[in-house]
Amino acid sequence: MYREFYGLKELPFALTPDPRFIYFTPSHTEVMANLHYGIESGKGLIVVAGEVGTGKTTILRWMMQRLDRTVLVAYVFNPRLTVPEFYQHITTLFDVKEWETKSELLIALGKTLESRHSRGLRTVLIIDEAQGLTPYVLEEIRLLSNFESDTAKQLQIILTGQPELRDVLNNPDLRQLKQRVALRCEIKALPNVEETERYISSRLLVAGAERTDIFSPGAIDYIYRCSEGIPRQINNLCDNSLLTGFAAGEETIGRSIIEEVADTFDMLPRGDRGSQMNEEREAPARIFTAAGRAELWAAGTEASAHLQTEGASPLAMREESNKGTTPEVDEVGAAFRRSGLMGER
Ligand SMILES: Nc1ncnc2c1ncn2[C@@H]1O[C@H](COP(=O)(O)OP(=O)(O)OP(=O)(O)O)[C@@H](O)[C@H]1O
Ligand SMILES: [Mg+2]
Repeated sequence: MYREFYGLKELPFALTPDPRFIYFTPSHTEVMANLHYGIESGKGLIVVAGEVGTGKTTILRWMMQRLDRTVLVAYVFNPRLTVPEFYQHITTLFDVKEWETKSELLIALGKTLESRHSRGLRTVLIIDEAQGLTPYVLEEIRLLSNFESDTAKQLQIILTGQPELRDVLNNPDLRQLKQRVALRCEIKALPNVEETERYISSRLLVAGAERTDIFSPGAIDYIYRCSEGIPRQINNLCDNSLLTGFAAGEETIGRSIIEEVADTFDMLPRGDRGSQMNEEREAPARIFTAAGRAELWAAGTEASAHLQTEGASPLAMREESNKGTTPEVDEVGAAFRRSGLMGER
């Protein structure tokens, strides 16, 4: 394997969500700050969305390893559970015993939660891949979110999932659950080449690399374009490029190796697919010309408002509009940066 050839102690770009390798991009930091704030301030239901492979599971694992002993967590990562399996699972994780019927279960669980809450202990239910939960289990989650004292939630629930989670929560039958969401945030892909370079260097260093220039600047630029900044895609490209580079005896991975690997894995940048490699990518397609957009804007139509925010995802837009309402989140984010928690491993 390529490990020794590149002076690495372990494989730097495995596809597993290993929290030892975490690199805190601004988005990952913000989401972690949100989770910290949400748990600390006893928010009932927290939703974290993010595209496939952006690091949701990694961030949850990083957090779970660092939670204080006073926080008890039940982590559910298989959303395809039936309702009985779901309850079986969480009662085992919360150590709730002696129940046979559902009403006995809810009473026993309620007692455990109340007892923990009265002792100042927190209890958190984390559900990963929540976009795959059935409406039946989601309805049970709504029931669980009712465990509360006069002043605070006794069970905090974190749902993480792919962007489809939003559609799931928008189901009219689940509007009661949606109304209970106290905090929402989104994990975004790495925003640019510079962050991609830092991400790659960070993973190389954790893997024991003595040099972080294994990938040439041109290679990193192309990795960013092919991966669209999605960490799992970056890992895939880097791992396979190291293998190809090793086979070819190349100490430095250049752009041509990335092109070769990206072609094999069908990961060429959208603009390059079906065209010549090395060709410059066209600017993203637009519907109106610049002059046309200006005209619409001047006319003050609703369409112009959309065009001004083009490129922003609905989630990002909502987050933007929520910014003013959760100043504490920014404060926690700043505190994270100051405390050096960022990138701690
Ligand atoms: N911030 C990060 N720092 C280091 N590695 C990361 C980071 N984010 C993601 N990764 C890596 O990317 C890969 C995918 O991450 P992960 O499995 O956490 O994504 P996910 O969002 O849970 O994906 P899915 O939607 O498929 O469940 C893993 O190998 C993980 O180590
Ligand atoms: Mg995951």
